[in-house]
Formats: sequence, structure tokens, C-alpha cells
Amino acid sequence: MRARKKKNTVPRLERVSDYFVPVIPQPSGEIRVEVGCGKGKFITALAKDHPDVTFYALEKIPDVIVMAAEKASREEIGNVKFLLADAKDLTEGTEKTFMGLDENRQPILQDVAHTALCPTGSVSVLYLNFSDPLPNKKHADRRLTHANFLEKYRTILKADGHIEFKTDNKPLFDFSVEQFRECGYEIYDYTEDLHRSDIPNPYHTEYETRFSEMGMPIYSLKAKP
Ligand SMILES: C[S@@+](CC[C@H](N)C(=O)[O-])C[C@H]1O[C@@H](n2cnc3c(N)ncnc32)[C@H](O)[C@@H]1O
Repeated sequence: MRARKKKNTVPRLERVSDYFVPVIPQPSGEIRVEVGCGKGKFITALAKDHPDVTFYALEKIPDVIVMAAEKASREEIGNVKFLLADAKDLTEGTEKTFMGLDENRQPILQDVAHTALCPTGSVSVLYLNFSDPLPNKKHADRRLTHANFLEKYRTILKADGHIEFKTDNKPLFDFSVEQFRECGYEIYDYTEDLHRSDIPNPYHTEYETRFSEMGMPIYSLKAKP
């Protein structure tokens, strides 16, 4: 999502800090997660209509997530929280961290463990809406439907949980179908034109509104691990 760098993002984030959590706590009831929430139109509308569910929305760009949190705050929605975070940290894991150079001036990389952003087996629905298509093959592993991410989602989803994925981008959709299949997910409610299908779709995202107004079809599927 393109957003101009704003100078006042930090004070704005501070004003809505109540809407942020550093990690998703062990839930006591149903929780759902949106990855890459953008400006938050989808998650806030959904949260408003489902007061018994707690929603968590991840977004890695501060200038963007601040708008989502301000929206939730303005509308006084108490059951949505935001994480300024990267989806790659959803599960516990290790990352290669640069530790310096060895005697041959080669980089020393060390595995550094990090804490999971989300408890294992806790999420009933995970939403991926209009994820960045990243058309360059070199960046395929950053696509939010790459197998590496699908494995992370499997870890945090409940046994009977599922993923809901929508996009305007056919190449990303085809890539994603392949990845879901390779990872052993069961695909259902598959459509290449969501807005002309019988599948209920009451909550639209910012991107969805923009693309469907341009007459573009919306591709969508659900998947069970
Ligand atoms: C194309 S926008 C779509 C925004 C919104 N879901 C919509 O449909 O209007 C994709 C969003 O995903 C976020 N994003 C991409 N990769 C991410 C990651 N690894 N972790 C968290 N957010 C990510 C981007 O910063 C961007 O705001």
C-alpha cells in the first residue's frame, strides 16, 4: 500500500496506543486475525458486528496501521486490537542475525530465537485481503500466501479454523491456490468472481471497493489446514 511518509505518525500512534498490543495474548474466547489490514475498513466493520469475538489486525507499515487504529478509536470499537508487526513473526522461530565478520571477513550469522506474536492453535479465522502480489519471482517468498506463511498460519489456526483469502490479482490467486494445495490445505468456496457469486461477502476492504468499482473481478477462496 502506498502511503506518503507522515511526520506526525508517532504522536498519532501514541494517542491510540490503547488499541495496540505487542503480542496476541492467550485468548479466553474466539479470536480472528487479519494479516495486512491496511487502513482497517474490513476489520473494524467486522468487529462492530461481532462483539463477542476479539479481532487482531497485523500491519507492518506505521503510517497505515495508525489510520486503522484511529478508525477503531473514532468508532469506539472495543474488540479490535492492532499489532504493528511483520507476519513472518507470527510463530515462534529463529532468524539468522548478523553477528559480525570472521577472520576471513565472512559474515557470521547466528540463529536468534524470537517469541511468537500469536499463541499456537488459537485462531478461528485468518483473513488475507488483497495481499501484495509481489510479481517479481525473486520476492515470491514474501507473498503472504507463500508456503512458508501457510505453515505459520497452520500453527496458529485452531484444528477447525480456516483462512479466507481475497484478491484482484489473478497471478497471485493462481500462485496461492498452488501453495495451499502443496501445503495440504483443503480449498472450498473457490470463485473467480466473488461479487457475482452466491458466496456471502458483506465486508469489503479499501482495495476491494476500489477494484470492484473499476469492474475488476475479485478472486476468493477459503482453505482449511
Ligand atoms: C495491498 S494492501 C491491502 C490492504 C487491505 N487489506 C485492503 O484490502 O484494502 C496490503 C497490505 O499488507 C501489508 N503487508 C504486506 N506484507 C506484510 C507482512 N509481512 N506483515 C504485515 N503486513 C504486511 C502491507 O503493508 C499493506 O498495507
